[in-house]
Amino acid sequence: MWQHTYMKLLGISAGFHDSGVTVIDDGEIKFAAHSERYSKSKHDEHINDQILCEALGYGQPDCLAYYERPWLKKIRQIYSGQYDLAFDTTTLTVGGYLNKHSSIRGLQKIKTHTYNHHLSHAAAGFQTSPYNKATVVVIDAIGEWDTISIWAAEYDRKGQAQYRKLWRQRYPHSIGMFYSAMTKHVGLKPMDEEYIMMGMAAYGRVHWDNFMKARYVANESTAEFKENLHIGVNSEEWIRTEDFDIAAGAQSLTENLIYNIMRKARDFGFSSNLVYMGGVALNCLANRNLGAYFENIWIMPNPGDAGSSLGAAALAYGHRVSWTNAFLGHNIAGDYPTVRALDALTTDKIVGIASGRAEFGPRALGNRSLLADPRGPDIKDKVNEIKRRQKFRPFAPVILEEQAQEYFHMPPGFSNSRYMQATAYCRHPEQFPAIIHHDGSSRVQTVPADGTGIRELLEKWFVLTGCPMLLNTSLNIRGEPMVNDRADADRFERLYGIRVLS
Ligand SMILES: [Fe+2]
Repeated sequence: MWQHTYMKLLGISAGFHDSGVTVIDDGEIKFAAHSERYSKSKHDEHINDQILCEALGYGQPDCLAYYERPWLKKIRQIYSGQYDLAFDTTTLTVGGYLNKHSSIRGLQKIKTHTYNHHLSHAAAGFQTSPYNKATVVVIDAIGEWDTISIWAAEYDRKGQAQYRKLWRQRYPHSIGMFYSAMTKHVGLKPMDEEYIMMGMAAYGRVHWDNFMKARYVANESTAEFKENLHIGVNSEEWIRTEDFDIAAGAQSLTENLIYNIMRKARDFGFSSNLVYMGGVALNCLANRNLGAYFENIWIMPNPGDAGSSLGAAALAYGHRVSWTNAFLGHNIAGDYPTVRALDALTTDKIVGIASGRAEFGPRALGNRSLLADPRGPDIKDKVNEIKRRQKFRPFAPVILEEQAQEYFHMPPGFSNSRYMQATAYCRHPEQFPAIIHHDGSSRVQTVPADGTGIRELLEKWFVLTGCPMLLNTSLNIRGEPMVNDRADADRFERLYGIRVLS
C-alpha cells in the first residue's frame, strides 16, 4: 500500500459534520480538537481560523492529510441527489476548501494526501490501539460510499500499518442512517441527538423491532435495507405510539444488525482483537455485548468523523501513534483545582471544572466537566435542572478504575471503560440513583492511576468520603458545544450560577 512517511502532519476532517483538526509530530499527538469548540456552533462541519491557528502553533506541517476523497464523495452525492453539494466546485479539492473556509494562506501549497473515509476511521482506531494486529470494524451513517467496512489491520516488519478490506456494505444501506432516521422520527435532531434516543430506549417496550425489521430490512445479516433512509422514514405509516417504544425498538434492531456484522467480522478469523470505529461505535448500550464476539476491544474515544482528522494524519505518518489519553485540545493553564473542588463538592455538592487540555471526543472526561456527589436521591433532578435537560436522563459515573468491579458488573471485553465506551450494571443501585438509568445500567468512566487531575480528585474524594466515584456530565450551556476556554467557563458561571474552577 502507500509508503510515504511524513513527520509533521496536519490532519483535517471537514465538510459534513463534526469537523476536527489533529497535529501529529514524529508519532506523537500534539493537538487534536473539534472545530465546534472554537466556533461555538455545535457539530460545526467546517474548520475555522481559530482552530487552525492553534494547530499551527505546533509548527509548520510538512503534509496535510484529509479524511476522505472529495471526488468520490461528489459522485455519491450525485447518486443520492445532493446536487447543491455535488456541484459546489469550491470543495473539489482540499486547497479549494481551505481557501473558502479559512483566511490563513500558504496551507494550500503544502503537500496534501486524501484518504478514503472508512480507511481514515480505521486508522484512527488501529494506529492508536495497543494491538499489533486487529480486526477493524467501521460502522457509520454515510461518507463516500461505504457505510460498513471490515478490515484486517497489522504492522509489517518496518512497523508500517497495513490495511486489507475484508468486506463492506455501501450506500444507501446504512445502520447509522437507520438510527438517525428513527432519531428524527421521535422528534429529535438527526446527526446530533442519537444519544438521547439511546437513553429513551430504556423506558420503552421492545415490540416495534419486528415491525421495523419487516418494514425496512431486506437482508438482516448484511444490513441491507429496503429503501434509502437518507431523508428519514415516512411517519404517516406509523400507528400512533409512544416515542419511547419506538426508541426501544430501533435500539433493539440496531443492536441485532451490529451483532450480525460483528459475527461476520469475527468469522474472518483474522484476530480476536477488535478495533471498532465510526459514529455508531458511540452507542455504548450496544457496545456492552461486543465481548461475545471479540476478546479485546479498543474504541478510540472519538470514533466519529472529528476523530478521522487523527486517522488521516496517522495514515500519512504510517506507523503506530503514541496514545496516552484524550486530553489533547485547548489548554487552560494551571494546576487541576483539586482542593477547591473537594471543598465545593462537600459544601455545594456540585462543581464545574475547566482545567488543562480539553477532551478530544464528545464526552467530558474530567477536564471540562460538571461534577457532583452521586449519593442520595436528589442530585439527579438538581443537575438536570442546572443543565436544563429532559428529566428522564441520568448521568454518568466516573470511578477509580481499581474500584470499578466492586461497584459495577463490567461487561466482557471491557475490564476498563476509560472513555465511557460501554454500559455496565451497578451492584448497589439504591445508593447511587443519579447515575443509574431506568434499565439499571450506567455509562461508566474508569480512571487509571495515570496522574491526571481527575484521578487525583477521585483519590482524595475517596479518602474523604469512602465513595470512589463522582457524577460526571459535560460542562456546556444547553444547545452549545462543550466549554473550551476560560471565557466559555465564565459565561457558564454567569448563566447557570455554578462555580467553574480552573
Ligand atoms: Fe464517518
